[in-house]
Amino acid sequence: MEVLIFPSYDEMSKAAARVVADLINAKPNAVLGLATGSTPIGLYRELVRMHKEEGLDFSQVVTFNLDEYVGLPKDHPQSYHYFMHEHLFKHINIPPQNIHIPAGTTSNYAAFCRWYEERIKQCGGIDLQILGIGADGHIAFNEPGSSLGSRTRIKTLARQTIEDNARFFGGRVEDVPIYAITMGVGTILEARKIILLANGRNKAKAVAAAIEGPVTSMITASALQLHPDVTFFLDEEAASELKMIDYFRWVQSNKPKAPKT
Ligand code: F6R
Repeated sequence: MEVLIFPSYDEMSKAAARVVADLINAKPNAVLGLATGSTPIGLYRELVRMHKEEGLDFSQVVTFNLDEYVGLPKDHPQSYHYFMHEHLFKHINIPPQNIHIPAGTTSNYAAFCRWYEERIKQCGGIDLQILGIGADGHIAFNEPGSSLGSRTRIKTLARQTIEDNARFFGGRVEDVPIYAITMGVGTILEARKIILLANGRNKAKAVAAAIEGPVTSMITASALQLHPDVTFFLDEEAASELKMIDYFRWVQSNKPKAPKT
């Protein structure tokens, strides 16, 4: 596990976007796992810039989003379909058939969840998964207590997540859906490479628990400790509760000079 600390949200976002762009340049048909929420907006902004100014080509890229609210139609301004189109897809040259986002409205959720898992496999598996982290340590919508072996399924959102996300629903907690369809922790751990981004003071405790705490289903991000290729991209505030912060800074400044393996 690698921990990188950046002086600002902007620098964190740009460094993470560089990882995504390097992958796409090396493997034009890369399969990306995508997150929504406020955290990756800067990363998507930078990818759009790279597409427009540097010709970063998404024509063969395939994407799978982590989650979607149950009950929200695709054109609902708070749906993750809408979010992804506004922040990324409508600005780049990805073919619509290459985009996968869990269905917020479907007649058979169980069948959809099975299909989503199958479809990831058919596309060769996820090369790079982008994650945010909830204040309660969740990844995707795998709330505390989610099995660390879980697969794509319906989850009941925790009160805290509903309250945190009410800001996107005009502050009205009662308008936030209670259920979401989400990739499982087990699904996420199968990605070949994972990057988790976190910024702001309100993420500091969850970040410290995920990186330095025990592996526990109460902080589903802690399961990332079991993955062989995870990098945390943090701003100073999100990193502020790490006990090993001096060590992580030391590694960050010395690692580029280390012999390549
Ligand atoms: C979104 C997702 C969530 C968010 C997390 C943090 O697709 O999977 O786990 O990453 O809730 O959200 P923000 O970035 O809004 O703080």
